[in-house]
Amino acid sequence: MGIPAGNAENGKKVFMQKCAQCHPIEKGARHKVGPNLHGVVGRKSGSIGDYKYTDANKSKGVTWTEDALFEYLENPKKYIPGTKMVFAGIKKAEERADVIAFLKSAK
Ligand code: HEC
Repeated sequence: MGIPAGNAENGKKVFMQKCAQCHPIEKGARHKVGPNLHGVVGRKSGSIGDYKYTDANKSKGVTWTEDALFEYLENPKKYIPGTKMVFAGIKKAEERADVIAFLKSAK
């Protein structure tokens, strides 16, 4: 199953509405409630040294590929039981693909 092609412009809007209150995206910006997501695509889960993850997030041991993020963002608590990310998820596949495209494009 492939992921729909995302649109980074739309994804930016979704990110600003749904993620930015908890996650910075600018390189080097300080973590908020959630970790900085700059460069998250391709990174290992729970791998930012100065952010305090739950054991659940750390021990997930997944690499945040586009596929993994696509599944995670639909229902974070199902993908990582015990996560402290309080977010219901994004049901629309297109919207998830857009956010992922934005995460990938953020330099
Ligand atoms: C209410 C705050 C909140 C919102 C909203 C939120 N997150 Fe999170 N997110 C967190 C927290 C807190 C964690 C750390 C989870 C843990 O350690 O269990 C996290 C973890 C993550 C991780 C794993 C990071 C890693 O390094 O392993 C990703 C990816 C992520 N969030 C993406 C998103 C995206 C994309 C959105 C918007 C669609 C979003 N989050 C919305 C708080 C939030």
